[in-house]
Amino acid sequence: MKVLLINGSPHKKGNTFLALSEAAKTLEKQGIETEIVHIGVKPVRGCIACGQCKMKQLGRCVFDDDICNRISEKLDTADALIIGSPVYYGQPNGSVLSLVQRMFFSAGEKVVNKPAAAVCVCRRGGATAAYQTMNMPFEMMNMPVVTSQYWNIVYGREEGQAALDTEADSIFERFRQRYGYELDYTNADCQKDLDRLISDLVASEYMGGLTEKAHEYGLRTWCEPYAHSPFPGNSITYGSAADEVAAEFWVNDRKFRKKEVDAALGAASHSGKNRVWAESFTDGSWDKSAQDDWSFEKLKPIADRYFHAGINATILHVVISQPGDDRQPAVRPWFGTFFDRRSRHADDMKPLVAYLRRCCFMLQIGKPVPGTTDQRMLADGTRIRFTDESLFEVTFPSGQQEHWNPERVEKMPR
Ligand SMILES: Cc1cc2nc3c(=O)[nH]c(=O)nc-3n(C[C@H](O)[C@H](O)[C@H](O)COP(=O)(O)O)c2cc1C
Repeated sequence: MKVLLINGSPHKKGNTFLALSEAAKTLEKQGIETEIVHIGVKPVRGCIACGQCKMKQLGRCVFDDDICNRISEKLDTADALIIGSPVYYGQPNGSVLSLVQRMFFSAGEKVVNKPAAAVCVCRRGGATAAYQTMNMPFEMMNMPVVTSQYWNIVYGREEGQAALDTEADSIFERFRQRYGYELDYTNADCQKDLDRLISDLVASEYMGGLTEKAHEYGLRTWCEPYAHSPFPGNSITYGSAADEVAAEFWVNDRKFRKKEVDAALGAASHSGKNRVWAESFTDGSWDKSAQDDWSFEKLKPIADRYFHAGINATILHVVISQPGDDRQPAVRPWFGTFFDRRSRHADDMKPLVAYLRRCCFMLQIGKPVPGTTDQRMLADGTRIRFTDESLFEVTFPSGQQEHWNPERVEKMPR
């Protein structure tokens, strides 16, 4: 099997050549013979629609004074074709267009049904338009177009700069380095391998990279690690790469958000996180009166259901534009947790917030004290008793009774 690669750039060893060489290297690793032919720097005339090639059934162009027929001859022994072009003014360059139009018109039977691919090299822009233009003749000649991850586009200006566009060719190298074997497009499982690579990169480079960068600036990442289709990541792996993971629950949701809870719990347990957050009591309903129709009794069971499923940290996203004091109750931003001073139910929310704080604290810390319903014990013997007035009292092993001391509690073993 042989693939003919046409370098349509006037630069024999320029960026288009580099891109084609990468493709040739990969093909050769698969045992496929390749030949890169250079279009040269001499003029390639355009088709003048004289029709002589057709009338006389020449199988070649009547004009024999440029490279066109030399390349047509090579198509006799080629089983597939790759054409590379630099981008000139958002198009394939003139010589490539002239060559393809004359070659396909005069010797079209040599390319019909043979797989083909285009490669475009540009400095900055116009590559997708050029790429589409180059694929048009293939589609017209019944040539199956060989596709790729992203399009076959490489960036570079001066000769050799395309080699700096590592993203274009490094996917193969990354795959080899990670999994120790070659990404093989002839293998039916190739797509699965590629999906796996992308999913792993989402975890290590996208989420992991973001977390690493955040740490440099003293920040932490917080992620709702859903991999709902068509997101190409895996909840467990990319959630694990964040500092904190979360699910979500909405006030008007009748269904239990199992997928989201599973994603957050899975990621937390995989990466040894004690805390599993939920974006809590989100509301986006347009029915403003419904937003104001909340009470402790209505909201508590929603939270309980998620606490029961494993959530142990709630977050209320209230810090979005709040209506001014002149607004009436029920005038709200459209999305968020509508706990604010203008709520008719504001008074009812105070015990709810206290309840959430208490539950989250209890569910994250220590173990229950046997025989009690309101006490938990930490590994060093510190006891926490939940009270009505101050939420909880902490008794340290020495017997000394202290009230809530956030600094001390923060340092307690969990
Ligand atoms: C006449 C001309 C027009 C060009 N037009 C574009 C363009 O529209 N967009 C772009 O990104 N680069 C443009 N370029 C830059 C080339 O596409 C780029 O330098 C490319 O790497 C050249 O590939 P080569 O080394 O294989 O010749 C143009 C270059 C020339 C000479």
